[in-house]
This record gives sequence, structure tokens and C-alpha cells, in this order.
Amino acid sequence: MDLGIAGRKAIVCASSRGLGRACAEQLAEAGCAVVINGRDEARLAATAAEMAKRYSVKVTPVAADLATPEGQKALLAACPDPDILINNNGGPPLRDFRELTREQMLDGVVGNMVVAIELIQKTIGPMLERRFGRIVNITSGSVKMPLAGLDLSSGARAGLTAFLAGVARSVADKNVTINHILPGAFDTDRLKGTLKKLAETKGISLEEAAKQRAASVPAKRFGQPDEFGAACAFLCSAQAGYITGQNLLIDGGVFPGAF
Ligand SMILES: NC(=O)c1ccc[n+]([C@@H]2O[C@H](COP(=O)([O-])OP(=O)(O)OC[C@H]3O[C@@H](n4cnc5c(N)ncnc54)[C@H](OP(=O)(O)O)[C@@H]3O)[C@@H](O)[C@H]2O)c1
Repeated sequence: MDLGIAGRKAIVCASSRGLGRACAEQLAEAGCAVVINGRDEARLAATAAEMAKRYSVKVTPVAADLATPEGQKALLAACPDPDILINNNGGPPLRDFRELTREQMLDGVVGNMVVAIELIQKTIGPMLERRFGRIVNITSGSVKMPLAGLDLSSGARAGLTAFLAGVARSVADKNVTINHILPGAFDTDRLKGTLKKLAETKGISLEEAAKQRAASVPAKRFGQPDEFGAACAFLCSAQAGYITGQNLLIDGGVFPGAF
């Protein structure tokens, strides 16, 4: 399927690996020039080099911490007027909510809510003028279904979702869409970290922890990042202009609701 976005410019935040990288790869495959990002310069450079070899589009790495104003400035300097913005970031670590300090809570809200809003504030103007914009926020299945120890992550992301629900409607007539993708368990470094903690807590091996977690998913496996990236690229396509303000849950059937 031709997604109709060849030649478009995309900023994909937090994309040196994992789900962000998968989104960047699928957008590059669709012909978009992509700015990719992460804090670890060497890892980011390696990803950029691999992508530049694989796709015939411009791939610009920007090593920067998204949580800082300087980091955001660097991203926007590399691509001041993106057609597509994918908001992603690391998530707060698993922690009992009683242990969270005020500073950790504020950092979590900044990282998983405020940064995305700030980047939208700074990029949406030209999208509205051009009558084309696609914004996708990577949040979490925990927005719909709480996960023990991830309360800060769920709260900050739910805040982002609610904040943007009104914004999405206010720009829909300009062919600018804002949607969210909610991952369940995807096979990335982040998941490996969570499984390691689970194995330690239960006193079982990492393999056993992975087996148990996968068994709890109706699909009986973890999601692959490219499955996630493909959905993201579709939401950024020319054809997806009538889809806005939506929360697409991709979790192999974990969420038990009929709707
Ligand atoms: N994988 C899952 O099963 C799952 C499930 C639910 C929700 N999620 C959420 O989805 C998002 C992506 O998850 P993932 O599994 O792809 O994570 P991941 O494999 O850990 O990758 C995270 C990416 O974000 C970058 N990053 C982290 N903090 C950053 C910062 N402050 N500034 C710039 N880049 C930053 C990392 O690069 P550097 O480390 O070099 O900065 C890396 O490229 C996270 O918010 C996660 O909580 C994931």
C-alpha cells in the first residue's frame, strides 16, 4: 500500500531503538526523511548508519535529552517544520507509588506528558498552514488498564491523552490529526528490563519470567516492534486523515473489554 507520504519530513522522538526506531523505520520505508533521536550518541549513530544503508531517504540523528529545552531545540533545529511528529520517550521505572518523591513525580509528568505537548506547541503551526500534519503519541496500554508499579507512567500518559483530546478536535478541519498508540508487551529493551525485575522478584530465571508473561497474553507471544511501526506509519498516511483523537491499543488481546 502506498501511504502517500513520500517526501514528507518526520521527527521521531526517542528512536535509537525499540518502538520509536520501528516507527522511524516504517516512515523511512514510506519515503519520509526522518530525524531520529536518543541520548546515547554511539547507539544513535549506529542506528542512523544502518537506516541510511537500508532506505533511500535522509536520516538525521540528533543526540539529545528530550526532557530538556536544549534537547528540544536541537531536534527542531534539525527539522523546524515537520509534517509528522512521533512523540515517544522512556518511561519511569517500576516503583511502588509510596516511594515516589515529589521530584520523581514531576519528572515523570514532564517526560511522559509535558514534553509531547511542548513539541506539539512548537510544530503544529506550519502543519495547520500546510493543511497536513500527523501527530502520533506512543503511550501505553496502562492508560486503559493499570499495571502495578507503573502508576506514574499511567497517570502522566492519561493526562497527555486527555489534554490532547480537545486539541485534536480543534485542528481536525485542517487535516492535522493527533492519535495515540498504546503498546502492550513488545519485545524491546524496555520489556527485557521489566522481565528482569519480575524474575528477581519471583526468584525465577529470565527465560521463565518471559515464558510466564507471554503466556498471559491471548496471542501467546510478545509483539514485534515492526508490527507497531507499521500501525504508526498507517496513522501518518495520507489515507488516515479522518482518524483523529483515537487510542489504538496493540496488545495481543490483553485488554479484556468488548469495546
Ligand atoms: N515495550 C513495551 O512493552 C512497552 C509497553 C508499554 C509502554 N511502553 C512505552 O513505550 C515507550 C517506548 O518503549 P520501548 O520499549 O521502545 O523502550 P526502549 O526499548 O527502552 O527504547 C527507548 C528509546 O527512548 C530513548 N530515550 C529514552 N529517554 C530519552 C530521553 N530523555 N531523550 C531522548 N531519548 C530518550 C532511548 O535512547 P537512549 O537510552 O539512548 O536515550 C531509546 O531509543 C516507552 O515510553 C515505554 O514506557 C513500552
